[in-house]
Amino acid sequence: MKRIENLNLENKKVIIRVDFNVPLDDNLNIIDDNRIKESLKTIKYCLDKNCKIILLSHLGKVKCEDDKKTKSLKPVAKRLSELLKKDILFIPEVKGELVNKAISNIKNKDIILLENTRFLDLEGNLESGCDDNLSKYFASLGDVFINDAFGMIHRSHASNVGISKYIKESCLGFLVLKELDYLLPIIKKPNHPFVVILGGAKVSDKIGIIKNLITKADYLLIGGAMSYTFLKAKGIEVGKSLVEDDFIDFAKEMLKKTNKIILPIDHACVKEKDSLDFYIKDTMEKDDIGLDIGPKTIELFKSYINKSKTIFWNGPMGYYEKETFQKGTKEICSIISKTDSISIVGGGDSAAAVINMGYRDKFSHVSTGGGASLELLEGKSLPGINI
Ligand code: 3PG
Repeated sequence: MKRIENLNLENKKVIIRVDFNVPLDDNLNIIDDNRIKESLKTIKYCLDKNCKIILLSHLGKVKCEDDKKTKSLKPVAKRLSELLKKDILFIPEVKGELVNKAISNIKNKDIILLENTRFLDLEGNLESGCDDNLSKYFASLGDVFINDAFGMIHRSHASNVGISKYIKESCLGFLVLKELDYLLPIIKKPNHPFVVILGGAKVSDKIGIIKNLITKADYLLIGGAMSYTFLKAKGIEVGKSLVEDDFIDFAKEMLKKTNKIILPIDHACVKEKDSLDFYIKDTMEKDDIGLDIGPKTIELFKSYINKSKTIFWNGPMGYYEKETFQKGTKEICSIISKTDSISIVGGGDSAAAVINMGYRDKFSHVSTGGGASLELLEGKSLPGINI
């Protein structure tokens, strides 16, 4: 695993794999440009080294021709140009004549962004399937490959893993290195007390991380709908709240193994899933649906958060899609922001909450990778790192 600072990049033609998979609204406006901003350090470093820069990225999943209309990287080129205050040459193709011509004309300090690499998935899964010929083609476009796409480092695509097999030199960029600097100590040697806060709808999405972090953390605070599966496993009434019955045995096993798991003690409930008319209850009844943690749970979680030295948080505490049920997530966010602990947030809704509430600078690290940071903390080896 080479670091970007250890390669001589002066005047080289560099291919940087970035993760510009950003959310777009119906009018193709970028809703959250965090990933673009976080990639600037590596791009600016290469500009300072007089490089010719070729950027590769995917955006969303591309399953049919129609997806091309909504998953183009063109809006990203515009935003990147605004952020860098510099022209970006956007090429509406991923390979072929237009690309070859642009690259043969590229000058020092020029930046080219190719179209969404996953458009080639329509030609036989070439990008996502890490096709060998496509990997060779990408490698032929430059002298050095820099992988700075942390968000997809758990994937093995032609544009991140395949290319590195065929290009002369490869290294990791600043964004990936920063993510590893914060995330790896969590699984290797966290400062104690180490508090893990997990939320979100499904236990099934978090099995690997629960199993791995339960041995390293001092406390595991569980909110979100996944807490109802754990509460049900303890024999506590959760009414009509979302439960994964297939994972009750797993929850029972974890609860038996350790007393580190801390669960909600009160809930914001409704009678109908679409209702916003909520009430707080300590004990649910058969017709209650829990959609957020309640005030006593917030205080309980606060008592653990306040005595921590390291915090890792992934997943909202309630039904985050509805503003009414964002309270628990926002309160937890605010409590963490006031601690002196090393505080790390995985991607997704919890990272969005931190950024939208203006707390980004109050956290030690806001990860750009949801799935990637989870897989890393599950202890899995990530294909994009070993280049
Ligand atoms: C992400 O947003 O998690 C990464 O860009 C990976 O995207 P994917 O889940 O579509 O592979």
